[in-house]
Amino acid sequence: MDKEKIKKFLIVDFSKRLTLGDQLKIMFEILFVSWFLFTIVYLFTLFRGNSKPDTPSSAEVSQVQASEISQVQASEQSVEQPSEVSPDLPKPSENGIFKETETVNMKYDEVNKGELILVNKQYPCHTDGEDAVSLMGVKTDSYMVTDYNVSLNESITDALNQWLDDFAEIYGESELMIACGYRSRSNQEELFENEVDDVGEEEAERWVARPGYSEHQTGYVIDFTLYNDIEQGSLKYDGTDIYEWINENCYKYGFIIRYPEGKEEVTGYSYEPWHFRYVGMAAAYYITEYKLTLEEYIDLIQKHDINDPLLIDAGGENKWHCYYVPANENTETYVTVPKGSNYKISGDNFSGFIVTADVDIKG
Ligand code: DAL
Ligand code: ZN
Repeated sequence: MDKEKIKKFLIVDFSKRLTLGDQLKIMFEILFVSWFLFTIVYLFTLFRGNSKPDTPSSAEVSQVQASEISQVQASEQSVEQPSEVSPDLPKPSENGIFKETETVNMKYDEVNKGELILVNKQYPCHTDGEDAVSLMGVKTDSYMVTDYNVSLNESITDALNQWLDDFAEIYGESELMIACGYRSRSNQEELFENEVDDVGEEEAERWVARPGYSEHQTGYVIDFTLYNDIEQGSLKYDGTDIYEWINENCYKYGFIIRYPEGKEEVTGYSYEPWHFRYVGMAAAYYITEYKLTLEEYIDLIQKHDINDPLLIDAGGENKWHCYYVPANENTETYVTVPKGSNYKISGDNFSGFIVTADVDIKG
C-alpha cells in the first residue's frame, strides 16, 4: 500500500453519511490509540521504578518472597505520595532483610531506657533505680554482698547468678563480694566530693563520675570487691588469680569490663577491672571479641539499619541481627522488628533505638 492508499484507509469523510465500514474503522482507530497510550504510560512507569536509587539489590531481592516483592513495590509507590504518608512514619513494608515484620511503638523517653543505654561524661543517666531490687533477696550462695543496699535491675540478676555460680562450680568458695550496684545520684555526689577532697578534681575525674553521669545510676552495673579487703575499707579486686576467670568469661553472661585498659581516651576513665556493665549477650560478645568499648559499639550499630543489620555470630545458636532506628523527637517511633523472633529494643540514651534480634537458625 502506498501513502495515499493508507491515508484513504485511515481517514473517514464526515461530510458524507457514515457507512458500516467507516464505523468499524473509527472503532478500530479508537482502540488502537487507547492501546498505544496505555503502552506508553506502562513503559514510563516501568522505567521510573527501575531507575530508583533505593531499589533493593538482587541479593536482597533473592531473599524475599514474591509477595514481599509486591510489598516493596507498594512501598515505593507510597514514597511517591508524600501528602498521604507522614514522613515520620515508616513505610508499612519496610521489612529490611526479614521475611515478616511488625512494628512496635516506642515513646521518646524510652530512648533513655534499656540495657544498651550509654551513660558517660557526655550523656547523663535519666533513670534512677526504678527497676532495682536488693541483691540480698535474690542472690545465690556463690558470692557475698556487702549489705541490703546493694541492688540491681531485676532483669539482670539471673545472668549475674549464673555467671558467679559457674565460677563457684570451678573454684569453690571464695572471697568474692559485690560492693556496689545501683547508686543514687545523691550517693554519687557524696562519693565524687570525697574523692575531690582526697586527690583533687583532675585525678577524681579519672575514677569517679560526676553526680548524674555515673552508669551505676542505671542499675546495670556492679563493682566487685574481696571480703578481706572490704574489712580494710578498700577495693582490691583486680581480676587476677582465680578471679581472672570472672573477667575473661563475663561476656558469656552479657557483662563487659566497661573501662578497659588502653581505652581511657574513649571512656574517659582509668582501667577498672572490678567494674562490670550488663549490655546483653550479643553486645558483650562483640565488644569483647573486637576489643571495643560501649561507646564504639553504639557508634558502629548506628551505621546499620534494618536493610543492613550487623550480624553477630558467637557460635552455635548464638547469632543476632542488630540495627539502629533513629527516634522521632516529637512523635512516637515505629520500630520495625522481625515477626516471630525473640528481640530486644533498647534506647541508646541520646538519639534512637537499638534492636537486637535472635537469628532463627532452626528454620
Ligand atoms: N567509677 C565509675 C566511673 C563511676 O563512678 O561511675
Ligand atoms: Zn563501678
